[in-house]
Amino acid sequence: MIRGRPTFWLLTAALLVLGGAGLGLWPRAAEAEGSPDYSKVKGPDECAECHKKEVAAWKETHHFKTFTDLPRAKEAKEISEKLGLKRIKTESVCLDCHFTSQAKGDKPRPIAGITCESCHGPADGWLKRHSEFSGKKKETESADERAKRWADAEKAGMIRPDNLYQLAKNCYSCHVVPKEELVNKGGHAAGSAFELVSWSSGEVRHNTWHNGGKENRDDTPERKRMMYVMGVMVELETALRAVGSATASAKYAVAMAKRAHAARKELREIARETKLPEVMAALRAAHSASLKLSNESELTAAAEKVGEAAKEFAAAHDGTKLAAVDGFIPGPDKYKGKVAQ
Ligand code: HEC
Ligand code: HEC
Ligand code: HEC
Ligand code: HEC
Repeated sequence: MIRGRPTFWLLTAALLVLGGAGLGLWPRAAEAEGSPDYSKVKGPDECAECHKKEVAAWKETHHFKTFTDLPRAKEAKEISEKLGLKRIKTESVCLDCHFTSQAKGDKPRPIAGITCESCHGPADGWLKRHSEFSGKKKETESADERAKRWADAEKAGMIRPDNLYQLAKNCYSCHVVPKEELVNKGGHAAGSAFELVSWSSGEVRHNTWHNGGKENRDDTPERKRMMYVMGVMVELETALRAVGSATASAKYAVAMAKRAHAARKELREIARETKLPEVMAALRAAHSASLKLSNESELTAAAEKVGEAAKEFAAAHDGTKLAAVDGFIPGPDKYKGKVAQ
């Protein structure tokens, strides 16, 4: 059932052979993720009122700086020209990944770079509720009231750190760059060399709230294990969908097939070490669809199952029994960027 490397190369060859058939079809590439609800975006200034440390850490990141840096970048102008776009800040194809926008009339208006709400969800529906301790003091709110408060906030679209699957999905929906035309015609990078633990533990780290801002703490070994395995599963899910959306045998299709193949390989190593049923299920699902063009329904169904397995994984484990993956987890020397102090 589980196929390895030779299959992948055959498929890459098949993608290349199929090349001519797909040329000129890129505008039909499916959107991998919908846009956020711009009418619910509050903007980072609303968070700064209480989350001073987290905001200060965020201001040191590429996510913050892309708002001013991107429109000035030579490379950005080249991509825009190739795509026939006029102004980066008014083109929706760049907006959703590089900026945060608010609704202004019927159009999105960019207000900042990649912000709190790009990762924790547009806040209009949950901003008040998440922080109000059910109208009491922190100490007098009962456990039930607290659970109800968080459930309400999540229902209104808040992505909490506890919801590791949704949290990771957001990172990958931008960092895999599942947009065919942008890559093939615009010459944009076909995604980042992204890994969840190392990419969230460097410049992105802002673990300063629940410890009263004493230090920007590194994650516990248990949390890192969960993040590591989740990262590989979500990478796989996202890459399978991306291969499914490919219409032309060109840079995008090949890059996404390579990503899916590499993630399957990494997941197989994890399965071998942990024997976890959820990981095995994801692996079986990922191998049920061929990494080739014109296979969208099979690849999407496989991605769907990988996603389900990832959610089950998050629900069933807390990392305490996953020491078997410790050897795979990138150490502090691999953290991406400087940790804010
Ligand atoms: C009025 C103060 C206030 C504002 C404004 C505020 N927060 Fe919070 N936030 C809190 C409090 C208080 C908690 C902790 C609640 C608890 O521990 O039960 C919290 C917790 C959080 C958490 C951690 C949740 C968890 O599960 O541990 C996140 C994420 C968060 N806020 C994001 C935001 C974002 C994003 C914004 C802006 C859109 C924002 N907050 C605005 C007070 C605020
Ligand atoms: C699907 C998400 C996505 C979309 C859409 C997107 N980008 Fe990017 N872009 C990224 C990511 C992720 C990176 C970082 C890649 C890396 O890790 O090297 C990036 C990096 C870049 C860079 C290099 C870094 C920099 O800021 O100088 C440029 C230039 C760029 N993008 C321009 C654009 C332009 C112009 C558009 C719209 C035509 C666009 N991007 C649309 C996700 C996206
Ligand atoms: C790039 C995505 C991203 C952005 C942008 C982002 N966060 Fe987070 N946030 C996360 C992740 C991931 C975690 C959990 C990190 C972990 O477990 O190591 C987190 C955790 C938190 C926590 C809990 C911290 C603790 O002490 O445990 C709070 C509060 C929070 N974020 C608020 C904010 C606020 C406010 C902003 C905007 C200034 C923001 N976040 C921007 C991804 C993001
Ligand atoms: C809304 C889209 C989006 C989301 C969500 C997102 N990123 Fe990014 N990220 C980008 C883009 C675009 C860049 C490149 C910005 C630039 O350099 O102009 C980037 C850059 C980065 C960088 C700096 C990379 C470098 O070259 O040094 C890190 C680290 C990073 N992201 C981590 C994360 C993590 C971890 C998450 C999830 C917790 C995440 N990102 C979520 C779009 C996103």
